[in-house]
Amino acid sequence: VAAGLQRAGIRSTIQTVPDGEACKDLAVAEAAYRWLAATGVGRRDLVIGVGGGTVTDLAGFVAATWLRGVEFVSVPTTLLGAVDAAVGGKTGLNLDGKNLIGAFHHPSLVVIDVDVLDALPPEIRREGLAESVKCGLIADEELLALLERDREDADLADVVRAAVAVKADVVGRDFREAGEREILNYGHTIGHGIEVAAGIRHGPAVAIGMVAAGRAAATVLGFDGEERQREAIAGLGLPVTAPAVEREAVLRLVALDKKRDAAGLRMVLLAAVAQPQVVAVDSATVDAALHAVGIR
Ligand SMILES: NC(=O)c1ccc[n+]([C@@H]2O[C@H](COP(=O)([O-])OP(=O)(O)OC[C@H]3O[C@@H](n4cnc5c(N)ncnc54)[C@H](O)[C@@H]3O)[C@@H](O)[C@H]2O)c1
Ligand SMILES: [Zn+2]
Repeated sequence: VAAGLQRAGIRSTIQTVPDGEACKDLAVAEAAYRWLAATGVGRRDLVIGVGGGTVTDLAGFVAATWLRGVEFVSVPTTLLGAVDAAVGGKTGLNLDGKNLIGAFHHPSLVVIDVDVLDALPPEIRREGLAESVKCGLIADEELLALLERDREDADLADVVRAAVAVKADVVGRDFREAGEREILNYGHTIGHGIEVAAGIRHGPAVAIGMVAAGRAAATVLGFDGEERQREAIAGLGLPVTAPAVEREAVLRLVALDKKRDAAGLRMVLLAAVAQPQVVAVDSATVDAALHAVGIR
């Protein structure tokens, strides 16, 4: 990226940050601010974040807050970064909890090089495939069919284009998360509980969470796509049952979920593929959902 900028006659300097979640940290942000200050970065300059979703979340936050906001360009190098973190304008850092510090700051430009994504190790690619199949399930049956047919070999240019369109469409209609944006949390209520309780990656956890939500939807809404969804997810090399995990621990985390309100727990459920609804669910439904992924 730096060489390309240089060839185009654009002056740039580079700040390297730690890998993964460790970079979404106030101390790392401070080091970045000091670097911007030392470099004399002004209002007409911009910050380019090159890396996974963690790096672009940090870079976007630094851009949002430097001089009360300079332009930001995002160059995601993971599939999850491309289909999820790069769209919607959320930036952030972790404090004791994830993403407790943050700002909305849209990138002026997102550059996704599919050749870079094609070279990702399968495990990291699957992180993004989980969010992509989620986009298919909640809003784009063609994307779902593409992933069912070509599985892990699906053309990432097509996957990225379709998944980005789904997210952009949803956040475009609901920028500050008043309502519709919630559907992007499909699979995340129970998935997040499993992710934390079992200490597994986000993508597999969301995959299991969607399978669980499929059972809840079958129970509550008569969703008849449970088996189809399970096969689509398994076809991508993602898990459809949970690892050994304590049921109570998952339930505690699910109860902490921010979608819980006075009416009880709310989950995103499918009435059919591409027909998501946010539904209040009772504890018997949650039990059935956990049961479906092997948590007893
Ligand atoms: N802003 C948003 O709306 C939004 C949405 C979803 C997720 N996120 C955030 O994104 C983060 C997760 O993103 P992620 O999954 O990209 O994690 P990540 O940034 O930790 O990257 C995952 C791993 O891939 C490696 N990596 C990055 N690019 C690579 C490449 N081209 N080849 C090989 N390895 C590469 C990284 O070093 C890291 O080890 C989380 O912090 C999450 O909160 C933000
Ligand atoms: Zn997610």
